[in-house]
Amino acid sequence: PQLAPFVDDLPVLPHVGGSSLTIDAVDAMHSFHRDLAPGPALAYGGNTYLGPVITAHRGQETTIEYRNRITAHPFAADFDTTLHGLSERDRTDVATSMHLHGGVTPPEFDGHPEKVVRPGQGSTYRFPNRQAAAALWYHDHAMAVTRLNVYAGLAGLYLLRDEYDTGERGNPLGLPAGEFELPLVLQEKIVNGDGTQSIRSTPIVPQGRWEGGAVGDVGVVNGKIWPEKSVARGLYRLRLVNAASFSVWDLHFSNGMPFWVIGMEGGLLDAPAPTTRVRLAPGERADLLVDFGTLEPGATVELRNIEPAAPQAAQIGAVHMPMFMRFRAEATRGFRGPVPVRLRGGPGQAPVVGPVPVPQHVRHVSLSQPSDVRLPPSIMSLNNLRFHSEDIEMPRQGTVEQWNIVNATPDPHPIHLHLVHFRVVGRQAIDTLAMCARQPQPPIGTKWTPDADPFVVEPLRGPEPWETGYKDTVICDPNSVTRIVAYFPTADELGFDPDATFSAAVGASGTQGAHHDSHAGHGEAHRLQGYVWHCHVLDHEDHDMMLKYRTVQ
Ligand code: C2O
Ligand code: CU
Repeated sequence: PQLAPFVDDLPVLPHVGGSSLTIDAVDAMHSFHRDLAPGPALAYGGNTYLGPVITAHRGQETTIEYRNRITAHPFAADFDTTLHGLSERDRTDVATSMHLHGGVTPPEFDGHPEKVVRPGQGSTYRFPNRQAAAALWYHDHAMAVTRLNVYAGLAGLYLLRDEYDTGERGNPLGLPAGEFELPLVLQEKIVNGDGTQSIRSTPIVPQGRWEGGAVGDVGVVNGKIWPEKSVARGLYRLRLVNAASFSVWDLHFSNGMPFWVIGMEGGLLDAPAPTTRVRLAPGERADLLVDFGTLEPGATVELRNIEPAAPQAAQIGAVHMPMFMRFRAEATRGFRGPVPVRLRGGPGQAPVVGPVPVPQHVRHVSLSQPSDVRLPPSIMSLNNLRFHSEDIEMPRQGTVEQWNIVNATPDPHPIHLHLVHFRVVGRQAIDTLAMCARQPQPPIGTKWTPDADPFVVEPLRGPEPWETGYKDTVICDPNSVTRIVAYFPTADELGFDPDATFSAAVGASGTQGAHHDSHAGHGEAHRLQGYVWHCHVLDHEDHDMMLKYRTVQ
């Protein structure tokens, strides 16, 4: 449909807080645009799409009583029953698993893809909140259906505050707060003329088959297509999350105005970093200061994207999606600032982010696209393995590791590690053909972790200004090696055992009290252990671009 931009106001997402919350996953009817009828969606809480913004405070545990009350899935016809043993039953008995992305969470509460909660069941998630203030986000993570559940609406922001970054409770850093802090959940969407959402971005792949990524053709912010936000003429804090299915976006303002990056996935930077653009892949967050005080009253500025469609997506018809939303300056003066000089390391401020820690161990890991009989596209894989492999990474607790992430594919992949935050050392393009000639990729199922170091073709490019702090997701560019450094904490430091085993079965609660075997089909006795790392392209993590990992003593 032809849709007019900027006719909907930016939705203000409801905020919830407190130490104990009840959150249901539900199906609802949601309208994405003034001129579109409401269509089926999924949501958390009382929303019709997405979830409330959860506010939490460092040092105060948040307990979430979660229930799956989904009665019908908007994408019931899109379940791919060839993935990970999905069956016809899954279309109506929808598996869910809630994950707090960026949370330093005990493994049993981390939303493990195989610890699923079916309709009529509930599960309690306890988030310790013992980490620095940051914008985390929560979203569904159930095996092989994450792409369907998150795209349908199961995602929300989780703003963790601490004594330095306290929002409405006080403002030692002098950051815009209250109405001057805007949570922005950025997504891409395909909508039909009747108001329904579609997850099918190409007719080449038959319905009910995994596509490799739902590339949207309209930009959606907080659940509306191309909305507009009236802003006072002053400083705002924008809390952005790329909650898309597939696309990487290179964002800027249409008037080219500079702004400041003040933080990312793991929290605040030491000092604001000026920039005119910020590039975000699915899973990544940006904490920005933007001065709308430079605009004349009534003037508008658009939040735009210049990243072209990814090469493989373009081959099957994806086009560049240029627009997210528009800001309109009111006559009123807003938050005056100034932009703080320092955010950490000063009197009354948190300790500095500091230099990248020195690694004690270097590990090579790989991203590849082993061929499959079914084309397009093929399987996406980490280390040339499939999800259920036990040939997994096991970093030692209390050590610092460098992971050299070798991307042997022609597309960017955002790689996310659960449990830890890491630093980006930098990237280097590699001669993938030469590397593969010397270290050939075996058939899928045999671990393949080539050393790219002899095949780099350029000097190391350091992190971008918006990547210089602690992160949990990093863009791995095509035919490149991306080097990250992570510290894997001990149980003492965490306050929980990161290597504890836990049961895949969840307790029943709610109306039906139904009980099903675990998704993996191993029954009630099935034990799980540890965490996962994966590509945050949702289709990729559903089709094996995800592996388990454990940290060991
Ligand atoms: Cu945002 Cu494992 O995911
Ligand atoms: Cu990927």
